[in-house]
Amino acid sequence: MADEVKKRVFSGVQPTGKVTLGNYLGAIRNWTPLQEQYDCLFCVVDLHSLTVAQVPAELRKNTLNLVALYIACGLDPDKSILFIQSHVHEHAELAWILDTVTYVGELNRMTQFKDKSRKHADNINMGLMNYPVLMASDILLYRTQYVPVGKDQVQHVELARDIAERFNSRYSDTFVVPECLLSRTGSSIKSLQEPTAKMSKSDPNDNAVISITDDADTVRRKLRRAVTDSDTDAHCVRRSEDKPGVSNLLNIYSLCADVSTDEAERLFEGKGYGYFKDAVADAVISVLQPIQDRQRILLEDKGYLETVLKRGAERASHIAQNTLAKVYRKVGLVPQIR
Ligand code: TYM
Repeated sequence: MADEVKKRVFSGVQPTGKVTLGNYLGAIRNWTPLQEQYDCLFCVVDLHSLTVAQVPAELRKNTLNLVALYIACGLDPDKSILFIQSHVHEHAELAWILDTVTYVGELNRMTQFKDKSRKHADNINMGLMNYPVLMASDILLYRTQYVPVGKDQVQHVELARDIAERFNSRYSDTFVVPECLLSRTGSSIKSLQEPTAKMSKSDPNDNAVISITDDADTVRRKLRRAVTDSDTDAHCVRRSEDKPGVSNLLNIYSLCADVSTDEAERLFEGKGYGYFKDAVADAVISVLQPIQDRQRILLEDKGYLETVLKRGAERASHIAQNTLAKVYRKVGLVPQIR
């Protein structure tokens, strides 16, 4: 029997600022097991980061840190294609073609565009608006079936589906229409200070966000300061819509300690918030410390990281070139004679 062709998975994280516990629990951690079953590409999406102002030297550093973090979190360059977005120029080229089948009205409706426009009112550049088209390009270039992301990216993946369907109906079947893969519990980790909002890299309040590189003391301090809920039930650790802070910490605990949220609730029955927060801190630290140790070692071996990235870009380019050539042909561009 012929080998079954594996379905393809694509995802990425922006190398903007500090990668958060939300990025880890909502995305990167869920990618690791997919490597066994699917043909996976994991990308550091540096071009996306340029949509907000960056210090060039920091962007370069953050990009390599994130590559090392991917590997430290268990992404295996022998199983998956790990690469940097700007190393495969077809991403930007396909984005241009996709721009021509995307409506301004669709991009104007994107929640993240509206949020970021508010936050960066002095820099509402075209890239910020066009951002979801570049993301669609990332996904469609590899004929991706599944896109594992957190909840905040679902709208962008839905737009990628619309763009793929529109292109296919205009120019005949070309792209695979991708689907989101959402984890059941980690898809939306909330801010520690405002637990109805997502934990976000760009949050100006450092206490609201646990960074993957935070040391043990910092993690413990931030969790001790985390907003809980001042109702009459102040010492009742349970999930509830009117207890978003406690629910978020229970969620983080259950993901880091690898127990169900029901079990976590049972464990903290009758315990005070101080005890609970310390236990959450222990669980988070036990997940982050080994990752930090591995990342540190990887960053000392630049030669190894360069080899991984060179091979990743070559393998990704091979797929991307094929798709782009097909797209150029379909839309009527004259092929270049080489
Ligand atoms: P980015 O860099 O903002 O986030 C990377 C991934 O982390 C998830 N995430 C969260 N999950 C749970 N709780 C949170 N608080 C939280 N914060 C972030 C995001 O949903 C995402 O999965 N546009 C994307 C990057 C991108 C991409 C792609 C993703 C570019 N091209 C193609 C998938 C496929 C972004 O800015 O993610």
